[in-house]
Parts: sequence; structure tokens; C-alpha cells
Amino acid sequence: MGVSHDDAQRSAREHLLLHFTKHAAAYAADRELLVLERGEGPYVFDTRGRRYVDALSSLFCAQLGYSYGEEMSAAIAQQLRTLAFNTNWGTAHPAAIELAEQLAERAPGDLDHVFFTSGGSESVEAAWKIVREHYLALGQPQRTKAIARRTAYHGVTLGALSFTGVASMKEPFGPPPIEVTHVSNTNAYRAPEGDDADALRERLLRELRDAIAAAGPDEVAMIVAEPVQNAGGCLVPPPGYWRGLREIADEHGILLVADAVICGFGRLGNWLGIEHEEVVPDLVTTAKGITSAYAPMGAVFVRAPVAETLMRPGVTLRHGITFGGHPLAAVVAAKNVEIFERDGVLQHVRATEPHLAARMAELRALPIVGDVRGRGFFWAVELVRDADGTRFAADERDELLRRYMPARLLEAGLIARADDRGDSVVQIAPPLISDAAVLDEIVDGLGAVLSDAGAHMGVG
Ligand SMILES: Cc1ncc(COP(=O)(O)O)c(C=O)c1O
Repeated sequence: MGVSHDDAQRSAREHLLLHFTKHAAAYAADRELLVLERGEGPYVFDTRGRRYVDALSSLFCAQLGYSYGEEMSAAIAQQLRTLAFNTNWGTAHPAAIELAEQLAERAPGDLDHVFFTSGGSESVEAAWKIVREHYLALGQPQRTKAIARRTAYHGVTLGALSFTGVASMKEPFGPPPIEVTHVSNTNAYRAPEGDDADALRERLLRELRDAIAAAGPDEVAMIVAEPVQNAGGCLVPPPGYWRGLREIADEHGILLVADAVICGFGRLGNWLGIEHEEVVPDLVTTAKGITSAYAPMGAVFVRAPVAETLMRPGVTLRHGITFGGHPLAAVVAAKNVEIFERDGVLQHVRATEPHLAARMAELRALPIVGDVRGRGFFWAVELVRDADGTRFAADERDELLRRYMPARLLEAGLIARADDRGDSVVQIAPPLISDAAVLDEIVDGLGAVLSDAGAHMGVG
């Protein structure tokens, strides 16, 4: 098992196209591709045997870390011996049925139906199709528009891309098929209201009302937002914001969708990432952590009244994905739920969050750190030029976030994310099984890297 380091580098260059990658740079002769071949607890190891703390949980997915392979493979082996595959296209199989029931029992409110997909973009697309079928069944075919937020990432398939609020990801692919208005996100650090969370919330909700009025309230089908927005750097909403979204949606008969592809499955210390907000969205999209990445899967949670319209005589849900709810993924997701409960994963995140929050807050002392924000095991540091929060210029951002930080983080044995889709941020999202010592290792490493980054950029 395993390939040599040099063979992997050569073979990747010759055959493997990478996602979201400038290939010329990634495969340049003086660059080495990071090839990870083994995991253990919160750690991953590359083909040279170097160890890294996976402080990003393989892109917000590996909630349980990497040491549950035996249990997961036993569940998969059992399913393989029974039924390797069937679809959920007008038929079903016990693995999907049982999982849907387990998930529905744990979801807040009456989010009691589940539509399975193979990943996050598919979940967002499926949510939109369910929303559309709902309104068609209700005799409101004119509801064809949506509201999303700026800089938010909701996936890359062409439907989901309509909701994504990052222009550079959309422009090459022509006009989006869905008409979406993008409103401000909840970046309190950059908001003119400063620390006045009430004023921020009221302005954001006013802007949303105005956007709905401009689009035509009876033409808007859906408002979609993440519980804590990832792109832009863990943008936590001000208190009462989601209650406001719920009220506005209800006022106009619009469906409210929480995109919990990242926030779900324990990332924020609860099942769907929305429980803090004390409102029940009409649909919740999930993926990533649903299986702790031991198999690819996504799911859309649907409230009873929306499911009810889909069940009406004559109504067809005209959407399906061959591998959505694949039995092997379904048994892995069920095992994931079992392990979460047996090992107290949600409780651990909630109990350890104050420690992580306090340690992250220490990073504010570094001159390059303008803001530290997050919730649960999902944190971002916003990087600035000076004490006034001045943003880095475009060429400085390139140097800092695309060149210096990625290399320096790896050198420090840390996998974290330097991101510039919005402002300049570095994010961590550790595996949920990380104890205080692992979290300290992450924050200490990040502090050292940020300190060096400040010196490198001449900050402070
Ligand atoms: C909030 C959100 N929605 C949707 C997606 C798309 O998920 P996937 O990459 O599994 O298609 C992502 C991916 O990061 C995401 O963060």
C-alpha cells in the first residue's frame, strides 16, 4: 500500500486535475504538492511521513478525526454483504429509511423529512428544487427569485452557484439561472455600527426588507443563509438576526433555508448549527460532517408543511440524484450519529468552546490581527495592516494569503485556511474530538505563524 513521495508527485503532475487550483503554480518544478496518506485522531501524515494537525478537518468535514476507520468499515462491510446499492428514486432501502428517521428525531422543530444527496452543492440545488415544487404545488409559480448574502459560498454547480455571492467564481460561467439578490452579510468587525449589535441587526434586516420589496415580495421563493457564514471568515450573526429572518420570511410567505453544510453536525456544538438561533428554518442543507467524511453524502432537512405539499396527489418532486442516500454512505452516517452520542461529541464541543474562544482571543494581541470571531469549533482571525484595521492591498494579500501563509502554516505542522474571498482571514475548524491540548497546539502554532507573518509584512 502507498506510493513513494516522488512517484506521487510525478504521477499527480501527469494525471490529476486539482479543484480550485492554479495548476501551473501548484505543479511548478520548485513546488511540492501536499499529498496526505494517513490519519490518526486529529493528525494527518504526508507521503514524507511529516505530521500535521488537521486544524481544518479536511475542509470542515472530518468531525471525528481519523481513528474511526475500523467501526466505519465494519458498518460498510455489513451493508456490502446485504445490499451494495439501491436508489431512492421511487424505491428505497432500509439504510436510507432508518437514517432519515434518526436524523429527523434529532433535528429541531418539525424538520422531519430528509432528502439525501451526495454533497453540499447538490443539497443546495435540491433545496431550491424542493422550494420551487412547493410553490408550484401551492399555485404560486411566479416565485422564482431568491435572496442570499454577499461573499457567501453555497456551492459551485450552476444552480447553487447562483446563490454563491463571490463574483469571481461566477463570472466565467455566464449568467446564473436563478435570479438572486445578494444582501450584506453579518461582518460586525467591518460594520459601521461597530459594537452595537442591535443597530447592526436592524440595518441588515432593513436591507433585506428593501431587497424583497425591490424583487417583488410575491416573486421571492427563498432566503438562504448560513448560521455562521464561512466565506469572509466565520461571520457570527448579531443576536436576534435569525428571528428577524424568520419574521420577514413569514410576513411574505417566503421559505427560509439555513445552509448548514459547514455549521451542521457538531461544528457549532449542536446537530444542525441553527439551534442557537431558536428559530426553525423551512429547510436545512447539510453535507460534509454528516458522515464525518468517512463517505460522501449530503442531506436536505424539510419541515412538515413543505413536505406536506410534496405529498399532495398529483405533485411530483422532479429532482433526483442516482447516488443520493447511497446505502454505504447511509450506514456510515448512522454510525456517525451513534458515535456522536456514545462519545458525547456535541457535549465535548460545547464544554470545550470557552477554552478555544479564550485561547483564540489571545491572538488579538498580535498587531496583524484585527479581529477574532467564531462559535463552537469554527474560528477565524482577520488580518490587517495596522491598528486602524486597514486592509492589505491586492498584491500584499496575494503575498500574505497565497504564498507566505500556506507555506508557513505547513512548516509549523498546521493545516488551516488562509482565505481572501472576502477580507483577509485565516480559519480553523478542528476535528470535534480535539481535546484542550490539541486545541492549544493549534492556537500556539497559529500564533507563531501570525507573529512571523506580521514581521514578514512589516506590520506592527
Ligand atoms: C455553506 C456551503 N454550502 C455548500 C457548499 C458546497 O458543498 P460541496 O463542496 O460538498 O458541494 C459548501 C462547501 O464548502 C459550503 O461551505
